[in-house]
Amino acid sequence: QKNVGILAMEIYFPPTCVQQEALEAHDGASKGKYTIGLGQDCMAFCTESEDVISMSLTAVTSLFEKYGIDPTQIGRLEVGSETVIDKSKSIKTFLMQIFEKYGNTDIEGVDSTNACYGGTAALFNCVNWVESSSWDGRYGLVVCTDSAVYAEGPARPTGGAAAIAMLIGPNAPIAFESKYRGSHMSHVYDFYKPNLASEYPVVDGKLSQTCYLMALDACYKHFSNRYEKLEGKPFSMSDADYFVFHSPYNKLVQKSFARLYFNDFLRNASSVEEVAKEKLAPFSSLSCDESYQSRDLEKASQQVAKNLYDAKVQPTTLLPKQVGNMYTASLYAAFASLVHNKHSTLDGNRVVMFSYGSGLTSTMFSFRLHSGEHPFSLSNIAAVMNIPAKLKSRHEFSPEKFVETLKLMEHRYGGKDFVTAKDRSLLSPGTYYLIEVDKLYRRFYAKK
Ligand code: ACO
Repeated sequence: QKNVGILAMEIYFPPTCVQQEALEAHDGASKGKYTIGLGQDCMAFCTESEDVISMSLTAVTSLFEKYGIDPTQIGRLEVGSETVIDKSKSIKTFLMQIFEKYGNTDIEGVDSTNACYGGTAALFNCVNWVESSSWDGRYGLVVCTDSAVYAEGPARPTGGAAAIAMLIGPNAPIAFESKYRGSHMSHVYDFYKPNLASEYPVVDGKLSQTCYLMALDACYKHFSNRYEKLEGKPFSMSDADYFVFHSPYNKLVQKSFARLYFNDFLRNASSVEEVAKEKLAPFSSLSCDESYQSRDLEKASQQVAKNLYDAKVQPTTLLPKQVGNMYTASLYAAFASLVHNKHSTLDGNRVVMFSYGSGLTSTMFSFRLHSGEHPFSLSNIAAVMNIPAKLKSRHEFSPEKFVETLKLMEHRYGGKDFVTAKDRSLLSPGTYYLIEVDKLYRRFYAKK
């Protein structure tokens, strides 16, 4: 099969959000800590009416409607999520409600879980299936869905929530360059969810930042080596038009791109300008460990990479800054932001993607973009996602009301025998919502 990849995308995020500026004041943090320090503008969260299942039901049905896809055309469905609602029953099985109505139960695939990486694992599974001898000619479907919530404290402003659905098949406008790939996997305790009674992770924030950057370095090295082996010339940042990162918060994305720049400098890649070489020279003798701790290096590399960041990364940052960390959906929401901002000029472009999931698992891979043909064109994907309208129709909650909502959700997590509030006026028509969880923990959803 040629040009296997993403044919169509739809994104859904809750209409309820809190402004980071208001939250930082409420939390007693210094002014600018969340907005400039973390680089975040706003954060979406689920109220009691929504969860990872309802969000993915909404994203999948909307994708089918807007691209004219019949549920019988799907042969594989893979879900990536780290939000645990049931330790056995997959989110995929909830989504089967959509397909059973059309008599289609012949659909492979289940859920993939490892922190924010599950969506990428799901995507690779689907692409591999289409490229394999067991492919039956139907589409694959990937769903990334998460609700990221943290206990009170410094990590709380790095939450978020969303679901993304992606249709997979050959001749895609967003085609995998499957040959170029680099992974780094390792055993660390940077972010994990050992407390099964709580939705909140245990997180070592500083360690998670360093693990992320170490994984980025390792993946970039493997990716570049693979590229050089196949192309006979070294890879540098000038060989890609855009870089898309898993985005826990924007500051880490700024640091990550600067880190790639430093990597190019160390490998003496041609893309690094002379002035930058001078500025980075003092840091070339640092050991690898020292380089993660050096504030001066961080500052210098961010400064020399600034123009390239504006050109190659900034267009990918809209949704992650506005919605927050969407865990498995975060990387793909960043990519969706690029399609939204640049759809008319992306033909022939290469986009490098970096996926990171704590614990840890990480891969760098690349897409080659084509304008595509309706309905599977980049411009139609941008039109369908209609990101401006979704952002505009949101409802801001006060920080007090946000905290109150999270308290209720703590109480509800793992609970049974409750119904949700009848007032669903904040949800747009077509949105799925949770009606009740009965005495046997069975969950019931409806569509507004
Ligand atoms: N104005 C401007 N900037 C400020 C201000 C201010 N008033 N106050 C602080 N800052 C800056 C800090 O200098 C720092 O920036 P820097 O790193 O460039 O120096 C930044 O704001 C954050 O402040 P810190 O005090 O360093 O960090 P904090 O203890 O508040 O925690 C953290 C931040 C670790 C990211 C926390 O939110 C967290 O644990 N989040 C979850 C873990 C996470 O997302 N890890 C990323 C990879 S793993 C994953 O995806 C889950």
